[in-house]
Amino acid sequence: MSDHDLPLVLGIETSCDETGVGIVRGCELLGESVASSVDQHVRFGGVVPEVASRAHLEAMTPTVRRALDSAGVGLADIDAVAVTAGPGLAGALLVGVSAAKAYAMALDKPLYGVNHLVGHVAVDQLEHGPLPKPAIALLVSGGHTSLLLVNDLATDVVSLGDTVDDAAGEAYDKVARLLELPYPGGPPIDRAAQQGDPKTIRFPRGKWGDGTYDFSFSGLKTAVARHVEDADRRGEPLVVADIAAAFQEAVVDVLTRKAVDACVEYGVSTLVISGGVAANSALRTLAGQRCREAGITLRVPRPRLCTDNGAMIAALGAEVVAAGLPPSSLDLATDTSLPVESPLAR
Ligand code: KG4
Ligand code: ZN
Repeated sequence: MSDHDLPLVLGIETSCDETGVGIVRGCELLGESVASSVDQHVRFGGVVPEVASRAHLEAMTPTVRRALDSAGVGLADIDAVAVTAGPGLAGALLVGVSAAKAYAMALDKPLYGVNHLVGHVAVDQLEHGPLPKPAIALLVSGGHTSLLLVNDLATDVVSLGDTVDDAAGEAYDKVARLLELPYPGGPPIDRAAQQGDPKTIRFPRGKWGDGTYDFSFSGLKTAVARHVEDADRRGEPLVVADIAAAFQEAVVDVLTRKAVDACVEYGVSTLVISGGVAANSALRTLAGQRCREAGITLRVPRPRLCTDNGAMIAALGAEVVAAGLPPSSLDLATDTSLPVESPLAR
């Protein structure tokens, strides 16, 4: 089959605060569009579910239209519709799944409810081509921190470890609030850290060397809070850049160490890092360095594909179609806690 014979997949993502639509054929991204409601959540310091759902509803059809236009195709060209069935916010997921059902019904094309987390890994194929089998994936986002053994994106994903408390992105967001930096906290901490010295403070590395692939970031967040309180009590000015740099070093040190250890233990030579936190400059640099030393090929999608988008859902949809898996039924339900080991929802 030539690439042109592969099905054209429309992907719809609405699990959190981004309405994303992508158009993919095989491993080729033809077009995409993202509308974000992040500005509406800033003053609350976190995503307000009802506000996000309403924004998805308003953004859905214009975002689909923009994605189709950017791909130079029409709705009639679509062969399959993929949508995030979970995990995510209940109301937000419902908007995407309802829209996807409507498109699938109107076009008389199959519907595939897919896993948001596996989508974050699948998107890398749009940038770097088919993923070697097996690969290890480090998924670091606002809601999740997981280390995965990916034998097959559509059918065989094994969870090696997870965060036992806060997700990495959540830790960034909470620490940013302590430092009076804006939400979402990842980008401003990343920027501040570049002006700071990570060696001035030694923050704890949760679950370091404990022999598991689990992570913990709540102790680190508490340590930053204590540091801020102590400085306040002594009337000392906060050196935000140094705190940001030391916090960031603690996060990326443990993430990259465990990811490389997993590659070595399982004899896997490819590591993919994805999810919003994969946009982090220190994580990209340290992972690159440690992978080079260990002879591991590192794949990190470009930042725009790391944060939530529709292309990742279309990319996983294309994999699921190629694997010949049966479509979801039109009464597909959302699943707010869909496990990462289920690439396809039932
Ligand atoms: O994957 P994503 O867009 O949404 C979820 O599925 O959660 O990830 C959002 C998270 C936020 O917590 C945000 O602070 C974090 O990704 N993030 C970053 C950076 N850019 C976004 N964290 C660290 N450094 C960054 N440059
Ligand atoms: Zn995500």
